[in-house]
Amino acid sequence: MTILVTGGAGYIGSHTVLQLIEGGFDVVVLDNLSNSSQESLRRVESLVSKAIPFVEGDINDKAVLSSLFSRYDIDAVIHFAGLKSVGESVKNPIDYYINNVSGSLQLLDAMRKANVKKFIFSSSATVYGNHSPVPNLEHYPIGNASCPYGTTKVMLEQILSDYAKADSEMKIIALRYFNPTGAHPSGLIGEDPNGIPNNLVPYISQVAIGKLAKLAVYGGDYDTVDGTGVRDFIHVDDLAAGHVCALKYFDSMSGYEIFNLGTGHGVSVLQVIDAFEKASNQKIKYEIVARREGDIASSWADATKAEKVLGWKAKYDIIDMMKHTWNWQKQNPNGYESQ
Ligand code: NAD
Ligand code: UFG
Repeated sequence: MTILVTGGAGYIGSHTVLQLIEGGFDVVVLDNLSNSSQESLRRVESLVSKAIPFVEGDINDKAVLSSLFSRYDIDAVIHFAGLKSVGESVKNPIDYYINNVSGSLQLLDAMRKANVKKFIFSSSATVYGNHSPVPNLEHYPIGNASCPYGTTKVMLEQILSDYAKADSEMKIIALRYFNPTGAHPSGLIGEDPNGIPNNLVPYISQVAIGKLAKLAVYGGDYDTVDGTGVRDFIHVDDLAAGHVCALKYFDSMSGYEIFNLGTGHGVSVLQVIDAFEKASNQKIKYEIVARREGDIASSWADATKAEKVLGWKAKYDIIDMMKHTWNWQKQNPNGYESQ
């Protein structure tokens, strides 16, 4: 079975490509390298001792897509390609709608022409918006995303649901990721953000390695266990495993299905700092400052549907996530750039 992985050179994509190959799938990666380096795939190749077919190109490029689908006999598509920065999406919404929404439509159109009927989409907990009760359940209403990035995910879920209704042969799974973190235990692949990280764990790990002086903890007065924000951090290898389970589930489903991928547990910002310190033996300097605009107090998944239906459950805890993040950071202080 051959799987097209768009965005396969990126953070979650590279970990998933590794597990797909380990699981016996053939993989073709399409990535425009706008937020990644091909070095991630070279490292996956070294882990699996196998060459990975790679097409450098854009999901918005019809010619690239049609030649890819005629060259390879694709059975299913896992679609990671997309821009994901919340702040950037507020500044450049048009870029986000073109890249994420229009790009996904081009991809679906090319799949339709090539008669490819299985599609897994990277959605996000952000679709639950600001007012959803926790834990989030898949049937809760979605919308009111806090930024254009989030809105692209809401729009795409709607498009996918409409498409699955219109074509009874289409099988579509949307996976709503909570807060992906961690790295492969080898330390060979991991998260390599551009510039100063916006997300908590990459920021902490750059404080630990000495690239950044101090973490700003956004808000100490939320109605949570210790006043700081609470999130459902999920190990990237657990997420990757969720995609393999979803692919296997295609045989027993029809239409459109949504699954939360999270641990089902919330962890506060201060608890993450504590776990990182324990896992790395490093002290993290931090200061509690004002809340960040657009943040919610708490977000965590009800992940029982994925467990019951897909047979998937997260196995790593927050200490493992921090240990693996630190292992990756220490071995690759400049990410995939040569050191
Ligand atoms: P990433 O930026 O590391 O990976 C995305 C990959 O897609 C990159 O390699 C990038 O070069 C590529 N890409 C972007 N636009 C493209 C285009 N037009 N054509 C071809 N390739 C393109 O991000 P990630 O963290 O691995 O996220 C993967 C997916 O998961 C994204 O869709 C993201 O929105 C979603 N997601 C991520 C998170 C998270 O916190 N990391 C949370 C929820 C959902
Ligand atoms: N935080 C800090 N300091 C920082 C960065 C973050 O205190 O420097 C706090 C935030 O205020 C929040 C928590 O750490 O309470 C997590 O923040 P992240 O930025 O790491 O993650 P978010 O939950 O805000 O959002 C992330 C992705 C979104 C995605 C969402 C759900 O950035 O794209 O997870 O999947 F939609």
